[in-house]
Amino acid sequence: MKKRIGVVVDILMYLILVVQMMYVFIGNNVHELLGIGFFVCLIIHLCIKNWWAKTLLKKDKPASRRFFDVITALLLTTIIILMFSSMGVSRFLFTWFHVMGSADLHRYLATAVLTLSVIHGGMHGYWHAKRKKLAVSCIVIASVIAVALGIFGVPFLNRQRRSVEISYADKQPQETVEWQGEKPLVVYFTRIGNSNFEPDVDAVSGASLLMSDGEMMGNNQLLARMVCDITGFESEAITLKGEKYPSSYSDTIAVASDELKAQARPGIEPIDVSNYDSIILIYPLWWGSIPMPVATFLENNDFDGKTIYLIITHGSSGYGNTISEIEELCPTAEVVPGASIYCEDIPDAGDQLAELINSWNMGNK
Ligand SMILES: Cc1cc2nc3c(=O)[nH]c(=O)nc-3n(C[C@H](O)[C@H](O)[C@H](O)COP(=O)(O)O)c2cc1C
Repeated sequence: MKKRIGVVVDILMYLILVVQMMYVFIGNNVHELLGIGFFVCLIIHLCIKNWWAKTLLKKDKPASRRFFDVITALLLTTIIILMFSSMGVSRFLFTWFHVMGSADLHRYLATAVLTLSVIHGGMHGYWHAKRKKLAVSCIVIASVIAVALGIFGVPFLNRQRRSVEISYADKQPQETVEWQGEKPLVVYFTRIGNSNFEPDVDAVSGASLLMSDGEMMGNNQLLARMVCDITGFESEAITLKGEKYPSSYSDTIAVASDELKAQARPGIEPIDVSNYDSIILIYPLWWGSIPMPVATFLENNDFDGKTIYLIITHGSSGYGNTISEIEELCPTAEVVPGASIYCEDIPDAGDQLAELINSWNMGNK
C-alpha cells in the first residue's frame, strides 16, 4: 500500500512540475495552488522514502548511489529555495512575503528542480535497467529537455501568449528622487504605437502586452512612465514614420529578424537630444540586439560627450549584444548599463528603478 501511494505521489509530482511550467495556460492562482500541492506531495514523498536519510551516512556505497545522494541533496536544497522564491513572486497567497521576488530567479530555480528531479527519478530506472548505457543516455536526453523547457520553452510561451492586466495605481513607484544637475531625457522604444494593433485588444496575439487600467501599454513604455514618476523627467517615444510592425508577435519576430540581418534603419520621428547632457534609453532586446529603430535614433543624433544610461527589457537573454552595439554607434558617449529587467518582473520594477536612479544620482554628486 505504502509503495503504491509512493508511486502515485511521485507521478503526481512530475505532472505538477510540468504543468507548472505551462504558467501562461493555467494562470497565476492555479499555479500557486498547484505549488502548494507539490509541497504537500513532497512531504508525503519524504515520509515514505525516509530510508534515504537513514542510509545517507552509510559507508561503502557504490558510485551510482553516491551520485544519487548528491543529486537528492541538491534537489532538496533547490526545492527549499524554490519554496521561498515562490512566496516571493506570489500575487495571490503570499502577497505579504517580500524576499526573492524575481520571476527570473523563480524560473531558473524551477528549471533546476525539474532537471534534478528527472535525474533523481532516472537513477531508479538506471538501477533496474539491464542496459546501463542506454539508461544513462535516456537520463541525459531527458535532463537536456528539462533544461531547454525551462530556459527556452517557458520564456517562448510567455512571449507568445502572455498579456497581463495591472492597475498602475498599485504599481506606481512610491519613492521619488531629487536629481542632481541637468535632467536627462527618457527615450524609450516599445511595440505599442509601433505596431498595427487592432482596436480590439483580444485580437492581438502575444507577448509582453500589458493592460494598464484598460490601456494597452508596452513593457518599456511602462518602465519609462515609472522612471518619469520617480524623477519628474520628460520622456519621448521612438516612433516609426513609415510602415509599422505587424500585430502578430511571430510576424514581428520575422520582420525584426530581416531588419537585423539587413542592418536596416527604419525611419523614425525626430527626437532632439541636443539640449540634454544625458539620456536614459529604455528599450527591448530583439534577437539579442537593439531593435533597428533604436539604432536609427542613435545614428540620427549626436551623443558626443553625453551619457547614455541603459535600461533593457528582455524575455530571458539580458543585455544580449546591445551594450557593445550602442557603444559602437555612439563611440564618444559614455554608455552606462543600469538594469536588464525580465519581462515578467516589469510591473513590479518600481523599487528597483528608484534604487537604480538613486545610484546614478549618487555618481553625479
Ligand atoms: C521582435 C522581437 C524579438 C525579441 N527577441 C528577444 C530575444 O532575442 N531575447 C529575449 O530575451 N527577448 C526577446 N524578445 C522579448 C522582448 O525583449 C520583451 O518581451 C520586451 O519586454 C518587449 O518590450 P515591449 O513590450 O516594450 O515591446 C523579443 C521580442 C520581440 C517583439
